[in-house]
Amino acid sequence: MEVAQKAPQEELEGLKMSNAGFISHKGKTYSAEENEVWRILCERRMAKLPDTASQAWLDGLEKLQMPLDRVPLFDELNENLEPLTGWTVRAVDGFIPAEMFFGSMAKREFPSTLEVRPMDSLEYLQEPDIFHDVFGHVPMHTDPVFADFVQEYGQLASELDDKDKFDALGRLWWYTVEFGLVEEDGQTKLYGSGLMSSFGEADNVFVGGPEIRPFDLDEVISTPFRIDIYQPVLWVAQGFEQLRDSVAELRRRWAEELVES
Ligand SMILES: [Fe+2]
Repeated sequence: MEVAQKAPQEELEGLKMSNAGFISHKGKTYSAEENEVWRILCERRMAKLPDTASQAWLDGLEKLQMPLDRVPLFDELNENLEPLTGWTVRAVDGFIPAEMFFGSMAKREFPSTLEVRPMDSLEYLQEPDIFHDVFGHVPMHTDPVFADFVQEYGQLASELDDKDKFDALGRLWWYTVEFGLVEEDGQTKLYGSGLMSSFGEADNVFVGGPEIRPFDLDEVISTPFRIDIYQPVLWVAQGFEQLRDSVAELRRRWAEELVES
């Protein structure tokens, strides 16, 4: 799920009063063709991911008992996910306002669409679908440190009211949760959902496509991104503790700014 633009204040006030944006996943069923889309996507990605994905993501897939031959239902995912890290997956209808997005992260609720991409758009889709949201993102939420990182990120974002700081957090999200790399046993592995759920861009990482740099918080938060091209620069974390620490570092810096101003 991507971050939408900030909603006007009056809309936000309305959102605080309701669960607007969230929809029920109960009773959701998928057609034979939608299940087949999921199966094909999993088959294609799993031809590569056992060698290229972070062990945390691979372990997560197993812990969730993610079905690879049909679209998973949120109840069955949550049954396995919630006891591990307290996270659950909640259904949303398309894009949600940034405040709602961050607020749900702060509550360990991961917003995901229920929609499956069409059979004629298997490899490219502008908006995230359930394959991106669930297959790409959710396995990482079984990792305790990553789970803390995203929750603390959502908490920090929920407390902000400053465009520059939102921009900084948006970049941190983009270059980690969406397009992050991590070093494991001396090798560069994928964990960002934009890479897990894509074909060309993930392959491109291993053929010298993007410049790959060691994770550096200041570089990450000051590097704008485009969503319509392969990312020219990606950052490799030394571990997920580094991401969690980066949120704590931003919290410390921004609290200091407040004291000084
Ligand atoms: Fe995403």
